[in-house]
Amino acid sequence: MRACFLISRYSFIYFFISLPMLQINDVNMGITMIKARAHSNIALVKYWGKKNIALNTPAVGSISLCLEALYTETGVLFDPLLEKDELLLNGRPATEKERSRVSSFLDIIRREAGSRQAARVESVNNFPTAAGLASSASAFAALALAASRAAGLELSGQELSILARMGSGSAARSLFGGFVEMHRGRREDGRDAWAEPLYPADYWPLQVIIAITSEVQKKTGSTDGMELSRRTSPYYRAWVDSSEDDLAAMRAALAEKDFQKLAEVSEFSCLKMHALAMASNPGLIYWSAATLELLHWVRTLREQGTPVFFTIDAGPQLKIICPPSYSSAIVDQLSGHPAVERTIVSALGPDARVLGA
Ligand code: DP6
Repeated sequence: MRACFLISRYSFIYFFISLPMLQINDVNMGITMIKARAHSNIALVKYWGKKNIALNTPAVGSISLCLEALYTETGVLFDPLLEKDELLLNGRPATEKERSRVSSFLDIIRREAGSRQAARVESVNNFPTAAGLASSASAFAALALAASRAAGLELSGQELSILARMGSGSAARSLFGGFVEMHRGRREDGRDAWAEPLYPADYWPLQVIIAITSEVQKKTGSTDGMELSRRTSPYYRAWVDSSEDDLAAMRAALAEKDFQKLAEVSEFSCLKMHALAMASNPGLIYWSAATLELLHWVRTLREQGTPVFFTIDAGPQLKIICPPSYSSAIVDQLSGHPAVERTIVSALGPDARVLGA
């Protein structure tokens, strides 16, 4: 039997997706809050640009690392007594904008499960959202897992990744631990745009140091930023056309455990993404003076022989990657740096999982 799946982030657009027979488990609905944990991730080969906004399919593939230290835990309870979805974020009622984004996402799951019940959703990040660290990846991955289970759906990793993608593109990668590749897919319906694990966390135990700069800027979010780049940046076509080469180079660096190559490809993809963003109109500048200062600091360290490189997402924080044996010396040096407010150190993290199951 084929299930009818609703695929849209913000509007009701139906399309058919081949899924195995899905079960509706009435026992779970309205009785137990199902909780799931998903870890955040950072892309080494970046996702920037969408092929289809309604389906939230990426214009380019991406490769990421899962972060053990940063995660979201989300509980979902479908409750027949609720009139509309309720959302608590870090213990406080969410804004209407946040609630309706989650509600649209839950509509996809309700459609699939054949349910009209509203849900209570409680989501907690173990990291400060105010520090400007991305939380949509871990948030939508945890929500996809908890809400689908709470609705009685048993989805495969691939199906969960497609579902999470509709909440946020980077969330498709947060279902899996270690090194993960997101495929941009070719199909118009987005059924082949999903992430899969490349290598588990212990394959190459790197560490990530997040340098939180004192200046947390108000920024254009990724969703709006990448659309602006698609519409206005003269570099957009070149970005999309060169993405497959970056992915191939990254796969090779990982297969060979070649740190130098890993550093080169990661910094190339990161700087290319930011050049694309800066060349949008109006230009998107996610860096602060501290970001630029730290970027040079990391490069100098590498020139002096330390295996280390940086990556930067849609904000001013620098993420620094190195083998574990170099991490504490780097953190010590960063702690005294005037541009750094504090650091978070993370090993590579595991798959998303249902808690208490
Ligand atoms: C710079 O996944 O947040 O972090 O799909 O619109 O929710 P939406 O975008 P999002 O974009 C992440 C952009 C990035 C690079 C990356 O993680 O690959």
